[in-house]
Amino acid sequence: LGERPLSIIVLGATGDLAKKKTIPALFKLHSEGLIPSTVNIVGYARSEVTDEAEFRNKFVPFFPAASKRNDADAVAKFLSRISYVQGSYDGLDDFSRLHEVLQKFEAADGAKGNRLFYLALPPTAFVGACTGISKKAMTPSDNYGWVRVIIEKPFGHDLDSSNALSAQLSQLLKEPQIFRIDHYLGKEMVQNIVTLRFANRAFGALWNANNIANVQITFKETIGTEGRGGYFDSFGIVRDVLQNHLTQMLALVAMEKPRSLSAEDIRDEKVAVLRCVEPIELSDCVLGQYTANDKMPGYLDDPTVPKGSKCPTFAMMKLRINNDRWRGVPFIIKAGKALESKSVRIRIQFHEEVRPFLQHTQRNELVICAQPNEGIYLKITTKVPGLGKESIDTHQTELDLTYRNRYSDVSLPDAYESLISEAVNGNSTNFVRDDELAAAWSIFTPVLHAIDEGKVTPLQYVAGTRGPSEADEFLAKCGYRRTEGYEGKPQN
Ligand code: BG6
Repeated sequence: LGERPLSIIVLGATGDLAKKKTIPALFKLHSEGLIPSTVNIVGYARSEVTDEAEFRNKFVPFFPAASKRNDADAVAKFLSRISYVQGSYDGLDDFSRLHEVLQKFEAADGAKGNRLFYLALPPTAFVGACTGISKKAMTPSDNYGWVRVIIEKPFGHDLDSSNALSAQLSQLLKEPQIFRIDHYLGKEMVQNIVTLRFANRAFGALWNANNIANVQITFKETIGTEGRGGYFDSFGIVRDVLQNHLTQMLALVAMEKPRSLSAEDIRDEKVAVLRCVEPIELSDCVLGQYTANDKMPGYLDDPTVPKGSKCPTFAMMKLRINNDRWRGVPFIIKAGKALESKSVRIRIQFHEEVRPFLQHTQRNELVICAQPNEGIYLKITTKVPGLGKESIDTHQTELDLTYRNRYSDVSLPDAYESLISEAVNGNSTNFVRDDELAAAWSIFTPVLHAIDEGKVTPLQYVAGTRGPSEADEFLAKCGYRRTEGYEGKPQN
């Protein structure tokens, strides 16, 4: 940091993503000294802005509290770094003007500048904006240091459309310049998977089909599609959550040990394992759509949702990884809107020990809680403590690492904060490479086409429940065993 002037250009600066995620994350990074205090933040969008101060102040309600700092001071310092440029996303002249604004800032500093473009834009604008950047904002003069571009899903709607987008972008930017965000890769516990697996012999040694019976990766939300029904309907839960967030977590859980922690070594292993995942068949899916309860309207009651839509708001899918480590182990991924609780968890269930405890022991389960409260616990069987108990008197309990107890003085960063900071530092590890994206689409494309063709009618489930009961039956068929007599980890 620091040796070169840094500009961060937020395209789509007047939109929701910029307001709720990008700019607040930049504020936090700025107030914590994780990006240079002199950073030049340029908001860029089509709308005319007559009052720049008003434009800047609109972001303030979305700022997280600047911990341990003088908030007002931190806010004022940050806002003073933001300016606005009006322009279209496909007008080369507009990008020339933007380039001039950037040059002016860089020249004042007297050094070559680095430029991070954050495309908080709908995907239809990606190619136009990247054309502008590539043709006008990185002209081959020696005026700039590096140029990086952050983009966020949706990247196409199936394998072909995603490949077509990647091909277009590759004409404009080099792959190492493209930072595809999957914000789940910015979450603390997702970033911890590689450490947990490859820095701990105790887990690493057991991490295979000999010991692991099944893996579940679950995403639950209590909210429905509130206000985003129209957008959501053209994607559905599979494209919204399973193909990206859950598949990324699966890749980290299932990949082989990387040769090093370099971005390319890690991403090579993720691609390798994703290519071993067989395309999902319809018979391995349970799809659902929520109906109203007394507090919440059903999915089809949303006026922005087309009548009679068969779009799934819930999906459970069994994935098979066809390699030596995992053959025979079902990976069950599940995501749903309007469910009974909000959480994101990875559950690794081990095979049971048989002798000498027989039915007095149950399966170990390693649970990684990514949301809402970060933690890791391992369900174990112990002797019931106390006098007069036989060793056959067993009890299901857990080894527990609850972050807010163990790390009570650490404030965990928001996913966007981590990822933007990594992009500024040029670390691509937690961004999705083009071949990784293609491998992920290959797994889902056949089943998505079948769903798009209306071949499946989702099962109904009442909002606020666990989803269709068929999903729990399917889970049991996949071999998952609930731990009996375990009331759950005490809440801390
Ligand atoms: C987004 C999806 O990618 O992730 C949303 O489009 C979903 O539908 C969101 O609500 C969940 O993110 P988080 O960080 O709140 O778990």
